[in-house]
Amino acid sequence: MTNLSFFLLFFILLISHTNAGFNVVDYGATPDGETDSSGPFLRTWAAACAAFGQSNIVVPKGRFYVSMGAFHGPCNSSSVNVHVFGSIVGHAVPQKTQTWLVFRYVDGLSIQRGAIDGHGGEIWGCKLERNKDECPTGLTTLSINHCKNVLVNGLTFINSQLFHIAIFASEFVTIQNVKIFAPEDSPNTDGIHVGMSNGITITNSYIKTGDDCISLGPGSTDVLIDRVYCGPGHGISIGSLGKGGDQEEGVQNVTVKSTVFSGTQNGLRIKTWGTNTKGFVSGVTFIDAVMRNVQNPIIIDQNYCPHSHDCPDQSSHVRVSNVKYEGIRGTSATEKAVNFDCSESNPCSGISLKDIKLTYENQAAQSFCKHADGVASGSIIPPSCL
Ligand SMILES: *[C@@H]1O[C@H](CO)[C@@H](O)[C@H](O)[C@H]1NC(C)=O
Ligand SMILES: *[C@@H]1O[C@H](CO)[C@@H](O)[C@H](O)[C@H]1NC(C)=O
Repeated sequence: MTNLSFFLLFFILLISHTNAGFNVVDYGATPDGETDSSGPFLRTWAAACAAFGQSNIVVPKGRFYVSMGAFHGPCNSSSVNVHVFGSIVGHAVPQKTQTWLVFRYVDGLSIQRGAIDGHGGEIWGCKLERNKDECPTGLTTLSINHCKNVLVNGLTFINSQLFHIAIFASEFVTIQNVKIFAPEDSPNTDGIHVGMSNGITITNSYIKTGDDCISLGPGSTDVLIDRVYCGPGHGISIGSLGKGGDQEEGVQNVTVKSTVFSGTQNGLRIKTWGTNTKGFVSGVTFIDAVMRNVQNPIIIDQNYCPHSHDCPDQSSHVRVSNVKYEGIRGTSATEKAVNFDCSESNPCSGISLKDIKLTYENQAAQSFCKHADGVASGSIIPPSCL
């Protein structure tokens, strides 16, 4: 058999094993934006998950209000593909959990197109006006927990109450072509948070929020972030680390390339608490980034201790090593464009800078180094302090 006919046969077999589709409307969902379609969504999931071969779930045009959606595997289907043509909307109601739409223990999942609107306004309003403790925490819009082989493609996330996407204890997750929108002053509306996961790719996405654009927590390994636009918001952050108790997992093998930061608080940040918790960050490459009016374009902050609570006068036990910055250019909104504020007890090692050009009000900005060791090559503006 030729390669082509083999491929065609394979393709035909694949199609013949694809289920026609599980439409949420057939299971009772109502596209009026008001009737709670949680039950119908769960029943659709149960049917798709029980089927063999590939299962397709269809959320047609219209607005579907879903108060809560916990979709559990393991499934019989080799993969469940969710096609959203309309939108899924939430509502700020007090909840016991912190997750809104959550997928757990699924191996083989895709979620594509459509929009998911968290309606976070009321909760942000409360948090901005009152003591945060008096307000509901809000819900993370989409959680991927203990899953494997996941694709999130082409969705638009709007106004999450809390984080927009959180990936936890998962493997091989790709997020691509997503747009995330929340206002600059909306509290805790992080774009994408990753923790305890490996093989994570985030690519070709556009993220405007009130908090971190992307954050990588303990145990994030083999991560690629490529062609992501951030701003407004707090930028891309490794951390916060060093608050995870005795044995916190490290962050390893991270590449962040071809990013644009516009009006963000930080550009490329590594942040650890000034505490005794052991941990590490190792093997990070930041390559090809454009900064537009960013407050801290390049920053390692190992003395993070907000309100000087629990951690004053301690030094971070998280080791930061082998961090490379190459081709980082643009404008800083402050004079301190490069800031390596490392730990006294565990200094940063193996930092490398190559071809950096960051200016502040049309002049060279400045670099600050504390307990940081490394090398610089190529043209470095502001001059390296390593
Ligand atoms: C898998 O298929 C079996 C047999 O049809 C069924 O009993 C079981 O409930 C299915 N599993 C899931 C997770 O739906
Ligand atoms: C590092 O992560 C990338 C994915 O970004 C992966 O392709 C590569 O194999 C990893 N390298 C090592 C040494 O594990």
